[in-house]
Amino acid sequence: MFETMQDRRRGCRADVRTVFGATADLYYEHWGEFFHLAIFEQEDGCVDWDAALERTHQRYFQAIGGAHARRILELACGGGAFSAWMAERTSADVLGVDISDAQLAHAYKRLKKKQLANLRFIEHDIMHIAELDEAPFDAAVWLDAACYLPDKHAALKGVATRLHKGARLLLVDWCRAKRPTALQEEMLLEPFYGYWGIPAMETVGGYEQAFKAAGFRVLELEDLSERVASNWERGYQIALKALAEPTTVERLAEVAVNTIKYGRQAVQLAKNQFNAAMFAKAAADAGLLRYVYFLAEKE
Ligand SMILES: C[S@@+](CC[C@H](N)C(=O)[O-])C[C@H]1O[C@@H](n2cnc3c(N)ncnc32)[C@H](O)[C@@H]1O
Repeated sequence: MFETMQDRRRGCRADVRTVFGATADLYYEHWGEFFHLAIFEQEDGCVDWDAALERTHQRYFQAIGGAHARRILELACGGGAFSAWMAERTSADVLGVDISDAQLAHAYKRLKKKQLANLRFIEHDIMHIAELDEAPFDAAVWLDAACYLPDKHAALKGVATRLHKGARLLLVDWCRAKRPTALQEEMLLEPFYGYWGIPAMETVGGYEQAFKAAGFRVLELEDLSERVASNWERGYQIALKALAEPTTVERLAEVAVNTIKYGRQAVQLAKNQFNAAMFAKAAADAGLLRYVYFLAEKE
């Protein structure tokens, strides 16, 4: 048992490359290739996840002016599914960056299969994005990933250095409610952070300040929590189903490979994903985990 909140964090914590290295394949198998949430319209009744996801992508692409951009940056592109989605719909050069070699392995496979001349991927830490040796971009998108960064304010300042004046940046991130109680923090948020390798979530107000300090003007801000709620339920149901499946030889082989690559913690990290799904749903149901859309323009 964990004695204190700090112990709980230490007990679950691993660096983000290891977390995604040990768990990415599980998500590709059970969740899908886009590691972000689908936005539902009120009238959808949560029936068609793929259709909602497609509409979500169209909204994001339009928001950054993707069709007319010349160079698009996807920050924390994961397995590159959305970078490829964009590259198929624009003549702009699309660059996806991510810190995880395991995630990028999926991106490179995708690139080989799709043969898109305007799509590239680079392994890079967003905390050092200012050092990225690339011409400036006129549009950028950053989905479901900024929460993993240790210093989101510094990262936004770095991102600003890679963008032209007037460039649009769409940040969609998991934020925390403004004032959770100490008990909510201990019982819901801390375990959620720990199981998912998140240092801490930012508040909406915190992001507003960070945008300003980094030289961005926020054009649109929308709390999408209610419209994405069924995604957390989907994750929880998927986790329950995965738990009930018999262990296959393929799964054991995957675990063995991950143990060699990431050490014995790989098994625990994979198991932690069940708890992560439970705590994400509970934190969202409690109104503590907010899913927030910020569209900003570099001044
Ligand atoms: C939940 S996934 C989202 C992936 C992708 N944006 C998507 O929506 O499918 C979070 C991603 O953030 C990446 N990430 C976390 N910290 C990072 C950092 N410091 N630099 C670059 N990528 C990072 C992880 O490797 C992972 O691929």
